[in-house]
Amino acid sequence: MITYNEQNRTIKLDTPNTSYVLGIREGGFLLNLYYGRRLPDDDLWVLAQRHQSASFSPSDPEYTDVSTDVAPMEYPTNGRGDFRVSALSVRNADGNSVTDLRYVSHRIFAGKPDLPGLPHLYVTDDAQCETLEVTMRDAYTNVETVLVYTAFADCDAIAKHVRLTNKGENTVKLECALSSCIDLPSMEYDLLTLWGRHAKERQLERRPLGHGLQGIRSKRGSSSHSHNPFAALAEKGATETTGSVYGFNLIYSGNYVITAEVDHNATTRIVTGINPEDFGWLLAPGESFVTPEAVHVFSSEGLGGMSRTFHRLYDGHLIRGRWQNEKRPLLINSWEAAYFDFDTDKLISFAERAKELGIDMLVMDDGWFGKRNDDTNSLGDWFVNEKKLDLGRLVDSVHAMGLKFGIWYEPEMISPDSELYRAHPDWCVHVAGRTPSIARQQYVLDVSRQDVRENVFAQIQSVLGKYPIDYVKWDFNRNISEAGSALLPPERSGEFFHRFVLGTYELQGRLVSEYPDLLLENCSGGGGRFDPGMLYYSPQIWTSDNTDPIERLNIQFGTSLCYPASAMGAHVSACNRTGYRTKGDVALWGTFGYELDPNKLSEKDRGIVKEQVREYHKYYDLIHGGDLYRLVCPWDNAFHCAWSFVSRDKREVLVTFVRMRKEENTILHLKLQGLDPDKVYTVEQTGERCSGALLMYAGLELSGCARNDGDSCKLHLTAE
Ligand code: DGJ
Repeated sequence: MITYNEQNRTIKLDTPNTSYVLGIREGGFLLNLYYGRRLPDDDLWVLAQRHQSASFSPSDPEYTDVSTDVAPMEYPTNGRGDFRVSALSVRNADGNSVTDLRYVSHRIFAGKPDLPGLPHLYVTDDAQCETLEVTMRDAYTNVETVLVYTAFADCDAIAKHVRLTNKGENTVKLECALSSCIDLPSMEYDLLTLWGRHAKERQLERRPLGHGLQGIRSKRGSSSHSHNPFAALAEKGATETTGSVYGFNLIYSGNYVITAEVDHNATTRIVTGINPEDFGWLLAPGESFVTPEAVHVFSSEGLGGMSRTFHRLYDGHLIRGRWQNEKRPLLINSWEAAYFDFDTDKLISFAERAKELGIDMLVMDDGWFGKRNDDTNSLGDWFVNEKKLDLGRLVDSVHAMGLKFGIWYEPEMISPDSELYRAHPDWCVHVAGRTPSIARQQYVLDVSRQDVRENVFAQIQSVLGKYPIDYVKWDFNRNISEAGSALLPPERSGEFFHRFVLGTYELQGRLVSEYPDLLLENCSGGGGRFDPGMLYYSPQIWTSDNTDPIERLNIQFGTSLCYPASAMGAHVSACNRTGYRTKGDVALWGTFGYELDPNKLSEKDRGIVKEQVREYHKYYDLIHGGDLYRLVCPWDNAFHCAWSFVSRDKREVLVTFVRMRKEENTILHLKLQGLDPDKVYTVEQTGERCSGALLMYAGLELSGCARNDGDSCKLHLTAE
């Protein structure tokens, strides 16, 4: 899968349908010669000899056939004649940041190395991938840079990260150390990103590339609601089903950038990594720094093909542990049902009703600890509020009913009104001389500090060690300002944000390894930290606090660009916009659950809920093991949308159709995707039998379905 051609000095990384080609040019320049649809091996010499210089552009006096200004640089550096966005900038002991990397050696091996302290893709068998390590060196500073690539055998994905080691005698400062760069020889692409805010996460935006810089970033301390760390470049005219699309995603939960730059030659560079703003990392002699891992997917089957590759990759090579493949419990969460207003008996009554409905787990959300009855206090005081709750009786009663029990934490936060803050005021994130800003009445706890992490972890252990708890919801409800730690010396202040993220990863990693049966669900005011870094620790993430099924369509369609159904927390709530049937049909797309007071359900709605629980079991394997096809997207159609899951053997299909707004007199033929044209499918609900070809090319007649605003329907198809 990864081959070196000695004759023309190219290295070719192949996945089943894609190729990525590097060229080593005289003088040690490493070029990014090609990325896209799979190429044959024989004619790479054509790429290898392409002209890479231009007048007015600087080059090494000894090797003038490569100008770093115009050549497709594999890992571009600052100050050495490449004036586009850099991937690496190292400030040396002389005070300048001229950085110059040249090829030294490479090696290719089966399997994939771990990234210490960072979430990453993994394989269970070395035969599932091959890895290339290219060692580059800056001769003046002696900073060694190892570019690490993994090409997967079962997915069209290439993962890339960088390991920097100071092999010189002086301390240097990394001012920019990105994970990846791709240079494409054209600007004929649209940039697709997922913007959002609280309760409106991951809204798709598509814009044509223009000359200059464009892109997304976070400087909020988390990947954030504002822009998901995902972007795609879709060739002009590429659709859901056709055309070339490159997808980029960073396995990281903190400040990041994905920047595209189109230069004066109409070529496009796209870089991905830790946001260099507010970043600076001192590297003393002998020390190393590892960047987060960037994921690249190429699809020649449009956006749908790209998404399905991400889904398979993340389901198979990112999500881990017991709950990767085990059926997730269908849960009911207390938040929208009770907010802070609960006690032991109220929660037991939720569990009793939930049990009657067939639900598997009760989750007690915010409000069980310290003296917390609203959001003004107690974060950091992770001991049971015994005035409010008898946790032992609650857990025992819930377990005695045969239900699992889950609990909420927000470990990276501290309330000014808490015992923890009164004992350790310097444990909040802050900088000298400035009052920390407050958000949701809380400060951020400085988990970049080992002593702080020990304290918060010991508190979590004292609850999880005493009560048999099956699930933890880990929340994060504000952005980070006045970013600093009392323990970091001034020259290391630029390390804070990354150290904070590493601290969070250490805590979550410890939690899931000490409690391997625990199901962890991440959350950040809904989906403010919905990223692959979090998915490495928690197989599911709460998608949004917005549980309105119509609003959820855009959120879930957007989320599905990159993330699998198995990751997407989706609950039915009491909101009134639609009936329970549509709420259930929309929530069935993700990790299903309820967010309501089950005592308040009408008899009719209880019947619908019981039916939904049956459907959850009936379709679980198909939704969690099948492939998603977005049939009609809400960003393309204001009236209705549809999606389907198709089993890998193409024998089973579930189509969901939602009518957002009624259109009069429309005849609707929904063209399915991903079926076997030669198989004959039977539609369970109508008894109709027809070929996959007819269903895909002529379409399924849907005019009579879901006739009113907010209605939905599902059609289940099976083939012999
Ligand atoms: C924000 C989350 O998104 C909600 O689901 C809930 O857990 C609240 N926090 C609790 O404070």
